[in-house]
Amino acid sequence: MKKKLTVIVDNNPFDEKLKTDWGFSALLEVEDLKILFDLGNESKIFANNVEKLGLDLSEVDYLFISHYDSDHIGGLNYFLEKNRKATIFVPYNPDYFDLNDKIRKMGLNVEVVTNPIPIGPRIYKIFSTGVVSSFPRPEHSLFLFGKDGYSIIAGCSHPKVWNIAKRVEELTGFDYIDMYIGGYHFYKMNDDEIKEAVRNVIKSGIRRVGACHCTGDKARSVLRDLYGKSFIEIGVGKVLEWS
Ligand SMILES: [Fe+2]
Ligand SMILES: [Fe+2]
Repeated sequence: MKKKLTVIVDNNPFDEKLKTDWGFSALLEVEDLKILFDLGNESKIFANNVEKLGLDLSEVDYLFISHYDSDHIGGLNYFLEKNRKATIFVPYNPDYFDLNDKIRKMGLNVEVVTNPIPIGPRIYKIFSTGVVSSFPRPEHSLFLFGKDGYSIIAGCSHPKVWNIAKRVEELTGFDYIDMYIGGYHFYKMNDDEIKEAVRNVIKSGIRRVGACHCTGDKARSVLRDLYGKSFIEIGVGKVLEWS
């Protein structure tokens, strides 16, 4: 199945027409299915980038909210202005049950995720990891099957990159991950902590790293040096295609 990922919001520049922002959002298309992953930080920047990329949010089938941090849900109201039919997958977090109810009253379906579940019809082989850890806050990630194995798309990886990778490996029976795209959350680490974290990334069997958002520049350059051609440069407006 054909896959296309368009990065709508990221801290890193790529397409000069688009604005960068501290946050993450990407549109995943698998054949005819459209899944919006997270919603960036500043609503105006999210809206600007969506429009410049020529994306039509009314066509989105599923909205996947990895976690409720403001740099991942900033464009929520803008999205709700454009789309009243999507199913929204959110991690189990009682602090946001009121928000979920508000969205349901607008006519959208909100699915609260605790355990791993398919996102859309099973034939597409797209899943949520379920909430891998509630500490420091509940977050789930998306993973999908491709010809080179399973890829993961993550928001901030608060439950740690290697724990999320391990969850996917346990669920799928694969001992590696083809690609891991998203924030790795290494930006607050010192040099020794980065070294240790990168060792854990390698040990967890991640073959290609698309480390962006909250990974931090230092950790990104360590990963880039180590992974070489298997480091995927992610930035705002980047389009990845695979099958
Ligand atoms: Fe984030
Ligand atoms: Fe976060």
